[in-house]
Amino acid sequence: MQNLPLFQELKPIQENFSPDAEVVVYPGDVNALLSQIPDNTIKLIVTSPSYNLGKDYENRVSMEKYLETQAQVISQLHRILRRDGSLCWQVGNFVDDGEVYPLDILYYNTFKKLGMRLRNRIIWRFGHGLHASKRFSGRYETILWFTKSDQYTFNLDSVRVPAKYPGKRHFKGPNKGKPSGNPLGKNPSDIWEIVAKDWEEEWWDIPNVKSNHPEKTCHPCQFPIELVERCVLALTNEGDWVFDPYAGVGSSLLAALMHNRRALGSEKEGEYVKIARERLNTYFSGELRHRIIGTPVFEPTGKEKVSQRPEEWDNLPQARLLEKDEEAYE
Ligand SMILES: C[S@@+](CC[C@H](N)C(=O)[O-])C[C@H]1O[C@@H](n2cnc3c(N)ncnc32)[C@H](O)[C@@H]1O
Repeated sequence: MQNLPLFQELKPIQENFSPDAEVVVYPGDVNALLSQIPDNTIKLIVTSPSYNLGKDYENRVSMEKYLETQAQVISQLHRILRRDGSLCWQVGNFVDDGEVYPLDILYYNTFKKLGMRLRNRIIWRFGHGLHASKRFSGRYETILWFTKSDQYTFNLDSVRVPAKYPGKRHFKGPNKGKPSGNPLGKNPSDIWEIVAKDWEEEWWDIPNVKSNHPEKTCHPCQFPIELVERCVLALTNEGDWVFDPYAGVGSSLLAALMHNRRALGSEKEGEYVKIARERLNTYFSGELRHRIIGTPVFEPTGKEKVSQRPEEWDNLPQARLLEKDEEAYE
């Protein structure tokens, strides 16, 4: 767990890219910003594009058209990515008329055709969401981590997590009796888990940003900052450029600044640009509310009222219990 100083160094937030800038929030279309950025500049592109779901900030188009438009942006992203750079593309499932379209699978070839290499398909699992009634409820999204070449930064030690059994020892061989783990912790795996005690399983359980999360703004699909922090810490070094082309309310930019990287983002909606700038300024003044990376996920003890089965259900036949939970938020 890392402690942030109360006040951060105040950095000017610029509106256009310049090689000397430290923080850039471009208020407009990503394509216009891309034309300002030289080849081989950015160390990490981390983003969650619009999913073509018809949210406030997007117009729904056919899947073919959506992927075609994204492919044009992705080829420019590839151009500005450094040879030792990484791209983390975070998407979920697109659901149309009850049919599920896994966006990461649909995107994969676009990156592959550019010669990029997939290093991990990370499962980001969260505990809340819609309850489906005609399929299993969806509780994960994915991050495709691609590199531009075989030479890339991977700072594993910066993102190790506590081992479940740090006291394990070699039971045979020349190291018999010596600790078998790494004193810095274990590799967090490609299923992301923040805390070892979470469900005693190998999940990276980063809470989804919903209304009870300290970082929540009015944006409907905001990144938890700690999700991006993991990518920043593992895939970049201090002073490197981190770019979120679909920056929303600036979560990726905050994650970059928190670890002394340079932050660049474009966002076409004025309202989100304004919030992103406010959050950056709140960060500089030391007042940003955010979940510190590594904070354990809350687990019910079973004593909370909400953890207990309602008395009214005691005499209900099983069939009626199963009728519950039609498409409703938790
Ligand atoms: C899924 S959201 C990303 C939210 C972001 N990860 C955050 O933490 O706030 C996608 C964002 O991309 C923006 N967007 C969509 N098309 C864009 C474009 N062509 N140029 C710039 N921003 C765009 C949308 O307005 C939306 O805020």
